[in-house]
Amino acid sequence: MSATENRYLEVCFTPALIHLHDISNAVVVVIDVLRATSSMCVAFSYGVKSIVPVATIEESLAYKEKGFLIGAERNGEMLDGFDLGNSPFSYMDEKVRGRDIALTTTNGTQAMAAAKGAAQVVAGSFLNLDALCNWLKSQDKSVVLLCSGWKNSFNLEDTLFAGAVVAQLKPHFEMSQLRDAALAAEHLYNLAKDDIDGFLVESSHRKRLHKLQIDKDIEYCLTPNQSPVVPGLVNGALVDLLKM
Ligand code: MLT
Repeated sequence: MSATENRYLEVCFTPALIHLHDISNAVVVVIDVLRATSSMCVAFSYGVKSIVPVATIEESLAYKEKGFLIGAERNGEMLDGFDLGNSPFSYMDEKVRGRDIALTTTNGTQAMAAAKGAAQVVAGSFLNLDALCNWLKSQDKSVVLLCSGWKNSFNLEDTLFAGAVVAQLKPHFEMSQLRDAALAAEHLYNLAKDDIDGFLVESSHRKRLHKLQIDKDIEYCLTPNQSPVVPGLVNGALVDLLKM
């Protein structure tokens, strides 16, 4: 599909604002570049079967008894007693191949919950940028790019990724009245695109991860097109929609 055909493209800067968007006939792309949706993309490119995003640590623990690998992150750190954290590198491991995972993170999995009610929820990150954009173009649906932000406030890295998607999708979609967030995201992305890490250097979560000495996670998560997958929710679990 190449014409706009009344599909609109919107950006929502934080889950707290999602109620302003009509998502009932839209694909909501949940974005948590650092690092939840990046790790999800890596997990599927390393053969994970499904990921159930859960809101709480207790819910994640309960999945252990069902044979799942369990993952948890809070404030950037992995929690004791879990098999996995939220680093993309922890999913580059044979132990995840063919497995079901239950994952809870500070913001990314919460944003997935906020997108409940969408026609389809998918995960986006720089790692699956082109695969995601090609898939979105092929769908007969509007698109809402939902930035996970940090605890319901704006963040820069998710906004830059939203801008990268807007830059690719704009010719194929209409801009609705709620267009200014999309325009702002695209402008910021155009300013940042030649050195995204440098652009983010003063940003809050980048600084938090730097303090935790995981700059290699940041560098990896900002490298486009390492994971040609489209993780999407089907019956409450993410699967790679390109394999269905
Ligand atoms: C989140 O969901 O808030 C994150 O992805 C934080 C992180 O682990 O970097």
